[in-house]
Amino acid sequence: VDLLIQIERKSKRTLHDQVYDRLREAILAGRLREGARLPSSRALAADLELSRFTVIDAYNRLLDEGFVIGRHGSGTFVASNVAERCTGALPSGANAPVRSWSAWSDRLAALEHVPDPPGEAEIDFRHAMPDLDAFPHAIWRRLMQCESADRSLRTRYYGPAAGWPALRAALAGYLDRSRSIPCSAEQIVITSSSQEAVALIAKIWLNEGDEVAFEEPGYPRARRTFQLAGAELVPIPVDCDGLDVNSLRTLGNRARIAFVTPSHHYPTGAILPLARRFALLEWARERGALIVEDDYNSEFRFGARPIPALAGIDATTPGPRSVVYAGTLSKVLFPSLRLGYLVAPPDMIERVVAAKDALNRNAPHLEQATVAAFIEGGHFERHLGRVRRLYAERRASLIRVLHEELGDQAAIHPAANAAGLHVLVEFKTAKSTADLVAAARVTGVHIDSAASCYSQAAPSNPSVLFGFAGISEELMREGIRRLATILEA
Ligand SMILES: Cc1ncc(COP(=O)(O)O)c(C=O)c1O
Repeated sequence: VDLLIQIERKSKRTLHDQVYDRLREAILAGRLREGARLPSSRALAADLELSRFTVIDAYNRLLDEGFVIGRHGSGTFVASNVAERCTGALPSGANAPVRSWSAWSDRLAALEHVPDPPGEAEIDFRHAMPDLDAFPHAIWRRLMQCESADRSLRTRYYGPAAGWPALRAALAGYLDRSRSIPCSAEQIVITSSSQEAVALIAKIWLNEGDEVAFEEPGYPRARRTFQLAGAELVPIPVDCDGLDVNSLRTLGNRARIAFVTPSHHYPTGAILPLARRFALLEWARERGALIVEDDYNSEFRFGARPIPALAGIDATTPGPRSVVYAGTLSKVLFPSLRLGYLVAPPDMIERVVAAKDALNRNAPHLEQATVAAFIEGGHFERHLGRVRRLYAERRASLIRVLHEELGDQAAIHPAANAAGLHVLVEFKTAKSTADLVAAARVTGVHIDSAASCYSQAAPSNPSVLFGFAGISEELMREGIRRLATILEA
């Protein structure tokens, strides 16, 4: 029998695992047929320049698993019907069953995929990323270590579904202080991201075919979440003041939810003025509709006080409460934490918590307790103050460098405000957005296409998101010079 076994000395698989793997593969593929005699362990060991024990180990495992049988005195033979026994019970490719997927899964398959961005680039303008070097990792590590000594964190199997009580309380205080949202800890549910918050609301509020009014352009991940829930999306135009509430009144007459990013419209950067906030609330209250307020970048408004969140106005004006607020810790702490939260009107909270419990019980305890300690210790607001100054400078640098290096070849979106962690830039070039992004990547520069933000016609010129939070001015300049070369080519 010519076994043609290849052994890789540098492989992470042990030598006897490799001998076992190759023999098993040969048997299953029929290259070693039923009844075939395996070489003696001594001969194979010599052939492969391995220890005899290595080969005996592999043979013993094949014997235990029934791939081979040992005949005393005459050697080791391939057992009968092995391939059939291993694969015979499974239908062959030719008559494989036709999969009957759920309507949800079919909807998911039909939706345009929002790809994860590729790995880090040499000069990374990835939007939505905070500066991870600016995060006080040493404090975080110390707090986490401290919390992990708390037995009550380790001995719980699950719950509370709404989130760790200390974190809910700490966030309630923070939201009141910084976002003018007077809420109790009981109105807060800790989620694994703001996307989960949106998904929970879709789950408890929408039926298939219900309409959802959605900013156009808008946040593709939230759009997909509603589409997956079976909702009909109604695009509502956005201008330099954010969602056009007059258009919402005509187009969104039947909508049961309006999804908005009022503090920093995604992706343009428009800020919804107070008058529109009131008009939007009025629209929702008249219809018994919900507003889902995604406040993803609210912490970063540079040089001006933030306008109170819609949820705050909702809570402090008489009338039925209509705003569900979604917040994320991805930007103010770090994205791999995967923690976010929602604030719901008091009469809705029980349903939200029940949905969270039914779907995935609760967010991880240790991380929640660490964030609570981070907020309670004053580190959160101190960190926020520091990065707010840093990001304000970086945003100013980016705009200056874009202007100096690209002149009128690149225009910042007219709705942009001094806020958030990215700017939307339109390029004057005949290249498509995809070509520009790909060509930049080849030169080691990562920029994000804004194409997936548009459900209707995207602008004819390439529209690109530039994240600025984690890049020094020097690197920005180098990256933008490389883009200038691409534009000239
Ligand atoms: C509009 C918008 N909302 C929310 C988020 C935060 O999402 P998550 O909490 O899933 O990290 C992002 C992140 O990029 C975003 O762009």
